[in-house]
Amino acid sequence: MSSRPILLTHASQVLTLCGPESPRRGLQMGDLGIVPDGALLLDEGKIIAVGTTDDVAKHDLSLHAEEIDCRGKVVLPGFVDSHTHPVFTAPRLVDFEKRIAGASYEEIAEAGGGIRSSIRGVRAASVEQLAEHVLKALQEMAAYGTTTVEAKSGYGLDLESELKSLYAIQLASESWSGTVVATLLGAHVVPPEYRDNAEAYVDVVCEQMIPAVAERKLANYVDVFCERGAFTLEQSMQILQCAVAHGLKTRAHVCQLAAAELGSLLKVHPASLDHMDFVADTDIASLAHSDTIATLLPAANYFLGLDHFPPARKLIESGVAVALATDYNPGTSPTPSMQFVLSVACTHMKMSPAEAIAAATINGACALGLQARKGSLEPGKDADIAIFTAEDYRELAYWFGVNRWERVIAAGQDISKAPDVSCSALSAEV
Ligand code: NIG
Ligand code: FE
Repeated sequence: MSSRPILLTHASQVLTLCGPESPRRGLQMGDLGIVPDGALLLDEGKIIAVGTTDDVAKHDLSLHAEEIDCRGKVVLPGFVDSHTHPVFTAPRLVDFEKRIAGASYEEIAEAGGGIRSSIRGVRAASVEQLAEHVLKALQEMAAYGTTTVEAKSGYGLDLESELKSLYAIQLASESWSGTVVATLLGAHVVPPEYRDNAEAYVDVVCEQMIPAVAERKLANYVDVFCERGAFTLEQSMQILQCAVAHGLKTRAHVCQLAAAELGSLLKVHPASLDHMDFVADTDIASLAHSDTIATLLPAANYFLGLDHFPPARKLIESGVAVALATDYNPGTSPTPSMQFVLSVACTHMKMSPAEAIAAATINGACALGLQARKGSLEPGKDADIAIFTAEDYRELAYWFGVNRWERVIAAGQDISKAPDVSCSALSAEV
């Protein structure tokens, strides 16, 4: 794309999501700030002006801008996918077949499958090989309209392999024009060598991984899988408090398989609590009064073939700030598509298309602390834009199994047809 300003004109709808730099709650989630016959002026990676085509065309910079006609298109902020696990080497096809034959996610994990079966591949891979997998995933996500991605480690589960996973995320992000936020998930499960001594593994996370990651500035967040079969609430608190002590921010997987009390987790002010399938009513009230985002991941419920979904309606109507993300991972959610997440959020959690779009953009940005730069189309924000073939925004959640993507711009660069850059051409130090 040229270095001239870019002028997008005559969009059927521009979804600005304009508003305060804070998460949308309740009825605010239904207000997308729609401009019909909309236009956007971009320059030097930033948004300069937003409004009707008539108004934006009058701007001085519009005179010599490269114009892109967006008739028949809906223009919105690039999706913010605030929960992904892209550092793995292979799909888990045996687990998939076992589940089809009737085994549950937990039964497969107890028999040595699940997260533990992704460890070997990550430990054996080089940082360049892992970075290439991550970059492919980022490019696929972009091809579905995503411009900002949170990426977790979590399949290495020893000091060296977790650092390698985070270096791979860093290396891949340098070859991608979108924005990547890295998270240490050393506490994904207890690895096999600590099977009988989970506490000793928690010590490895706290005494080795977190200090090493903080010192090397390899991640902004520390995550923990606080769940039956993974880490107890006490162990999770130990890990999250250690993260805070090292200047890192926190988030947690919780209430995916079983109910848990959120009171102590909320005390560390996590940026988000994710899954929340079994969140208790009393905790919904506390969440509504906190800054913590509830990130719902319904593609995982879909892929696991579950009937139960997170209680999105109750959360939204209680005033909890809800975000949506893919949970891209080889075990429970092998999809890069936020468009699919919109569909399943509407059909299975009864979110309205407008609520789902707010959850996938501005509230996702809030879950990553990026609301000053991302998640809405307002002057001064990053020029991260997704353009879809549709007359009406509701079509984004209506059509499914197809990609209505037309063009994706990140920091003013067209990344729709990104070259397949190979990370092995790049060097990395571990
Ligand atoms: O968010 N729940 C923990 N982590 C992932 C699953 C990871 C896996 O099965 O590989 C999730 O669903
Ligand atoms: Fe996850």
